[in-house]
Amino acid sequence: SGAPLADRQGRRIRYLRLSLTEACNFACSYCSPHPHRAGDGLPREAVARLVRIFAGLGVERVRLTGGEPTLRPDLLEVVADIAAVPGIREIALTTNGQLLDRLAGPLRAAGVLRLNVSLDTLRPERLTHLSGRAASLPRILEGLAAAGRAGYASVKTNAVVVRGFNEDELGDLARFAWRQGAIARFIELMPFGEGEPVPMAEVKALLGAQGVRLTPDATRGWGPARHMRGESGEGAGRLEGLVGFIGAMTESFCEDCNRVRVGADGALRACLGGRDRVELLPLLAQGDDAQVAERIREALLAKGDRHDMAAGRGRLLPMIGTGG
Ligand code: GTP
Ligand code: 5AD
Ligand code: SF4
Repeated sequence: SGAPLADRQGRRIRYLRLSLTEACNFACSYCSPHPHRAGDGLPREAVARLVRIFAGLGVERVRLTGGEPTLRPDLLEVVADIAAVPGIREIALTTNGQLLDRLAGPLRAAGVLRLNVSLDTLRPERLTHLSGRAASLPRILEGLAAAGRAGYASVKTNAVVVRGFNEDELGDLARFAWRQGAIARFIELMPFGEGEPVPMAEVKALLGAQGVRLTPDATRGWGPARHMRGESGEGAGRLEGLVGFIGAMTESFCEDCNRVRVGADGALRACLGGRDRVELLPLLAQGDDAQVAERIREALLAKGDRHDMAAGRGRLLPMIGTGG
């Protein structure tokens, strides 16, 4: 249906981040510091229809987020629906890992190709402090092991670095990820909840001090992460792997932003750090697919050059519904 989706800056939008639910089994202080009532999430039919519309606009990749997407009882059906849409080349999913021990295999079989798993700490008491009592580190580690066996094209661990919380574990987190065959990623805290960010330059220095030698690497994925090759130890104990850095606050990656978001409330968000929402559910109810596509096109033409989250602090759309 016409020209591929682009914004005013001419950036091609090829990557849809779709939040399947606002519900979460954790309550991470950087994401959902206040108790919230989760809405119902997009019905399965609406998800499939929206993905078909976006695919018609040139979207090739879908990442499922939340809340916690594995809480959707119909997750495997939703994945299979998306996998059947012509033009969708990749389905990825971001999860807190708690339910992965059982779901890693079935999700891969249903069509998920890549998995990102939040792993901010390897200390159980710290996880409880960050994410609440329901969070279980042993289960998350089981889940990562299951993911390692399930044949994903990539598994990445995501650690948001928070001052005074996990700064002393960065080397251990990298080594742990590499042992699982995963890419170790470190993320600058964005101002959606509580905590003080640690700039990526400092994260790199901390990794060095914690035994990780970093060298340049040209790997580029589909997202804002920049990579380096990492190495730790010598001889038989030597480990190596990729490290990804997401400098959401101190680095600028907005120039090549390729993504659009639909929240669990059915609203389109052109930018994670913006406040603008366009309600798609009423449009789906009233209009045909071409009208919905036209409205999506218009909304993206209003997308700004770059996020200004530092200025928007406290006034951002909640992360738990936007999906990161
Ligand atoms: P890949 O496709 O594997 O590169 O995934 P990703 O890094 O885009 O997705 P993931 O869900 O793992 O998110 C990791 C971190 O990147 C989270 O903190 C997200 O909020 C953040 N992130 C993802 N996309 C954007 C973006 O467009 N802008 C900003 N500022 N942050 C983003
Ligand atoms: N800043 C940066 N990343 C965040 N995430 C959640 N809240 C924040 C925040 N305030 C991360 C999660 C998950 C990904 C989807 O977003 O850790 O890995
Ligand atoms: Fe849930 Fe993820 Fe938010 Fe933590 S960061 S509360 S796991 S959605």
